[in-house]
Amino acid sequence: MPVVVVVGVQWGDEGKGKAIDLLSEETDVIARYQGGHNAGHTIYVDGKQFVLHLIPSGIFRKDNLCIIGNGVVIDPAALQEEVDQLKSAGVELDNRLAISVRANIILPYHQLSDQVSESSNNRQKIGTTGRGIGPSYADKIARFGIRVEDFFDKDILKEKLKVNFEDKQSIFQNVYKKDFLDFDQLYDQVIQYRDTLMHFATDTQAMLQQKIAENKKVLCEGAQGTMLDIDHGTYPFVTSSNSTAGGACTGLGIPPTKIDRVVGIVKAYTTRVGGGPFPTELKDKNGEQLGEKGHEFGATTGRPRRCGWFDGVVARYAISLNGIDKMVLTKIDVLDSFDTIQVCVGYRHNGKEVPGVPPSAKMLENCEPVYKEFPGWKTSTSGIDSIDQLPDNAKRYIDELQKIIGVDFMTISTGPERHQTIQIENLF
Ligand code: GDP
Ligand code: IMO
Ligand code: MG
Repeated sequence: MPVVVVVGVQWGDEGKGKAIDLLSEETDVIARYQGGHNAGHTIYVDGKQFVLHLIPSGIFRKDNLCIIGNGVVIDPAALQEEVDQLKSAGVELDNRLAISVRANIILPYHQLSDQVSESSNNRQKIGTTGRGIGPSYADKIARFGIRVEDFFDKDILKEKLKVNFEDKQSIFQNVYKKDFLDFDQLYDQVIQYRDTLMHFATDTQAMLQQKIAENKKVLCEGAQGTMLDIDHGTYPFVTSSNSTAGGACTGLGIPPTKIDRVVGIVKAYTTRVGGGPFPTELKDKNGEQLGEKGHEFGATTGRPRRCGWFDGVVARYAISLNGIDKMVLTKIDVLDSFDTIQVCVGYRHNGKEVPGVPPSAKMLENCEPVYKEFPGWKTSTSGIDSIDQLPDNAKRYIDELQKIIGVDFMTISTGPERHQTIQIENLF
């Protein structure tokens, strides 16, 4: 079973970083297929915390290959920062990191557009990370994006940049009535990252085909989560890429017939950063308690995450949409101190039961969760590494979750560190 896609089940921050670092121990290639440095994937290695935004979460396991695929949008400055950070921590990147020549670039004007659009009074606020993700993907789809390959020839890069610059300048000055950048400064800013980009740039699609032909174990790393998918999430309160499993095929160039398994990462409760519907959100003491115990602050922006109970409707939707056949349950320890725990098992809209996640954010906003209540366990599960050691009520909660969603957990995470893990089944 060599090719596996790993996806977030909820609205991101499910603990994909920790889970993928663990799964990478038995994997040859780890490849990011979408998103950009809006992602923040936290990994602890020997007690030291790392937050990865672009580089795959497998980088801390020696001897594997990490790929940033064509579906990712790359801010060269963010990439440089991450490369420097990892190198100074002693992580080997040469011959271990490969970046697709087909990937699109995030430029400073994308970041400016993101910020202008978020501060506009006419537009609905999405609560983006302000990293220029949406505007960069918009240029890609409009077919005037700048790609990694354009950095090979400085003259081509300058020419393309100039044309794009003039278009954006006109919009900023005439439509938004805002100051814009200086071209020479922009070019100097961008070109300084050329060496780093060129050093790692290659045809990653061909590389992956080769690895798959050699029967190597490949893990496709999704960023964000199912409910933030541009098509299947809570549009418009979503990110600008396909974070669901299908994105792995287009974002890496892997044929759908080569995907063997999809693993979903799901948190024992739910969080969301930014705007948009969130049926099980708790705006009370329980929500605060989840946020405090779970340290629920954005790994990228530091914003407090909205917190709520586990949503079985969302999990079932993600399972069917992605074809998830195994799950990793994270942060069960965060529920340790609750007297009772609720799980959403269905929605009601205008008093009527709805069959699943409705396709409209407006309708989801008006859905009321139907809860099933479970007794808490009121004892620490932090760091437990065997299922037998879990308190009975925690075991019962986990069993019931499996019944509600219809898929079993292969791993249960009881803390942020590698060893704080109950391994039930291996990936391969
Ligand atoms: P990602 O974006 O899905 O990789 O998740 P983030 O890294 O943004 O957020 C998950 C947070 O939970 C990080 O701070 C992790 O270190 C932490 N974490 C992961 N698994 C567990 C767990 O089982 N228990 C606890 N308490 N924290 C965890
Ligand atoms: P990881 O990979 C949680 C959210 C933003 C906002 C929306 C659009 O760490 O799980 P964008 O900047 O992408 O245009 O913002 O998506 N968002 C995330 N929320 N985890 C993430 O990544 C996210 N990446 C984007 O908060 O609501
Ligand atoms: Mg995150």
